[in-house]
Amino acid sequence: MLHNTTMRERCVKEAYVGCTVIGCGKALPKLSVSNDDLAKLVDTSDEWIVKRTGIHERCIAISESSTDLAAAACSAALGAEGGSIEASSWNLGQVDPESIDLLICMTITPDATIPCQASLIKMRLGLSNAVAFDLNAACSGCVYGITVAENMMRASQSAPGACNPIRRALVVGVERLSRIVDWTDRATCVLFGDGAGAVLLEWNESRKGIISSFLKNTDDVELTLSRANMFNRALFPFDEAGVAAQSNDAAYDCAIPVTEYIGMAGRTVFKFATTAMREAIEAVLERGDMTVDQVARIVPHQANERIIAHVAKKMEVPLDLFQVSIGSSANTSAASALMALCDAYCQGRISQGDNVVMAGFGGGLTSGAVLFEA
Ligand code: ACO
Repeated sequence: MLHNTTMRERCVKEAYVGCTVIGCGKALPKLSVSNDDLAKLVDTSDEWIVKRTGIHERCIAISESSTDLAAAACSAALGAEGGSIEASSWNLGQVDPESIDLLICMTITPDATIPCQASLIKMRLGLSNAVAFDLNAACSGCVYGITVAENMMRASQSAPGACNPIRRALVVGVERLSRIVDWTDRATCVLFGDGAGAVLLEWNESRKGIISSFLKNTDDVELTLSRANMFNRALFPFDEAGVAAQSNDAAYDCAIPVTEYIGMAGRTVFKFATTAMREAIEAVLERGDMTVDQVARIVPHQANERIIAHVAKKMEVPLDLFQVSIGSSANTSAASALMALCDAYCQGRISQGDNVVMAGFGGGLTSGAVLFEA
């Protein structure tokens, strides 16, 4: 038994030493829209929204692109001077953009599909040495992105020459969910907002950094969380028989039976979210040989304050252990936990040496968590 414990401790330490957080950034569009503002659009009220979700307001991008928001969050994480977009930051010092080896962008609302969102950000920031690509894991994007970055860093350290050397990585989540929300549907439009969050990771052998991670996909056969790419048939010169005259039929279609707006079975997602988030948090604690009382802060995906409160209750820990930032920015999908992480650092709720858990769930259905020493 003692032998097993010792082996396990050695595995945890040897496998996960090195990938540390050295900066965070968060950027929001200028326009803030209150619940009362939304009550002018749909049949809702500030009271209903606050009571059911904890959301008071959200920011909506008017002229800000996803590239603008993500670049501002990344610049903040690098410790660079702010641009025209309001950004918050926490970092251990300014970092040269040319020292960034990897940029992963998580988004379901990129400015383009070609080039990918990460390439647009890389060009904007002059990250001339970075490999850049997008990752879509919906609202769990943050934990997927950090896990992929950490694994790429670790692989490049353990097998130098076999892959790109990666010592510094930017992991950024950005969304303009306002562009894919049905503004006539009160059940969804009150929940979402726009924004970007970024984290700067560095390989450092003298620090523990990321200790464990857990990723999971649960089949969503009923498409409880979905949004399809719509396709305009009028411009498509084929039918089942082959080449055809272009149809005048302007009807759009899509490969799965859902709409171009975010669709959600709220109660089903609520049940999934509470179970999946708790499972992910407990899994990273077990993999890291830790108990929840050794954790200083849990930073979850910000979908609904009631989901976070429910998980806290089931885990028998105070709600105050969790970072709750949903009030002012609503659900910003892949950006939300990274924005909340930046808030936690800026508010002094995470100090060096603290054990921190980040946890997410979202469309797919994806879920996961990461445990790291700050
Ligand atoms: N204002 C007023 N009334 C409303 C509103 C609104 N904005 N929205 C719904 N209602 C009404 C409903 O019509 C319903 O009325 P009825 O009883 O007359 O039929 C009543 O309120 C209750 O509706 P429910 O959907 O049962 O309300 P619930 O308490 O479940 O809260 C909510 C809804 C907030 C959506 C909740 O289910 C939830 O948070 N679900 C999870 C959402 C989530 O986590 N999303 C994250 C994933 S997003 C992503 O991955 C991109």
